[in-house]
Amino acid sequence: MRIAAIVPAAGRGERLGQPVPKALVQIGGLPLVVHAVAALFQARIDTVVVAAPLDAIDDVRRMVPRAAVVPGGADRRESVRNALAAIPPDVDAVLVHDAARPFVPDDVVRRVLDALQAGAAAVVPVLPLADTVKRVGGDGVVIETIDRSTLRAVQTPQGFRRDVLAAAHAANATYDVTDDAALVEAAGVPVQTVPGDARAFKVTTPWDLAVAESLWKGGPA
Ligand code: CTP
Ligand code: MG
Repeated sequence: MRIAAIVPAAGRGERLGQPVPKALVQIGGLPLVVHAVAALFQARIDTVVVAAPLDAIDDVRRMVPRAAVVPGGADRRESVRNALAAIPPDVDAVLVHDAARPFVPDDVVRRVLDALQAGAAAVVPVLPLADTVKRVGGDGVVIETIDRSTLRAVQTPQGFRRDVLAAAHAANATYDVTDDAALVEAAGVPVQTVPGDARAFKVTTPWDLAVAESLWKGGPA
């Protein structure tokens, strides 16, 4: 099975609040997108397509010379769709991995690939939730407590049979989603889960960036 990876890296990073797009924010002197792409190469995925911010395409090309770089879109799904169009024709399965997850361990990539090899059409790495989860109304008052035992937090890389991912992206043209599996679910395709890893966390807030910097320096993991 020939595998390629897509790295959506075109977000602004509103919640991080830095002047540069999030994928260009550095940890240990290297941009997030460089860490994320290096993790995929490290896991022996050698065909990688990055969707870059429109105002930083040339910068990203210089940062990840072994990857193909395409223009990102206005939302995440458009970025993934643009990258999907640049995947070589003989690729059978595609991983989609957020540029904002710099430290995904090889083991997580391996578990996703193993599930694809075993015949899954779609695979996501997941973690159980640590916190109690409640639904809260617009007035800030709790409506209900949700049974967390069946809930999972979902990470990347997410793996898909190429035809399944392409069909899901082609079918649902209008609304944005926060992950690709949501599109595949909407198409009625079963999505398998495999264990994720805390180190595959997404850098979303300034706190996450501080944690990432500390981990890079060999701080408490
Ligand atoms: N992404 C993308 N194109 C977009 C929006 C997001 O490629 N138009 C990518 C981001 O670069 C990131 C991944 O999707 O690697 C996950 O998105 P998120 O963590 O939400 O990043 P941002 O959208 O940049 O952050 P925020 O939502 O805080 O603005
Ligand atoms: Mg976002």
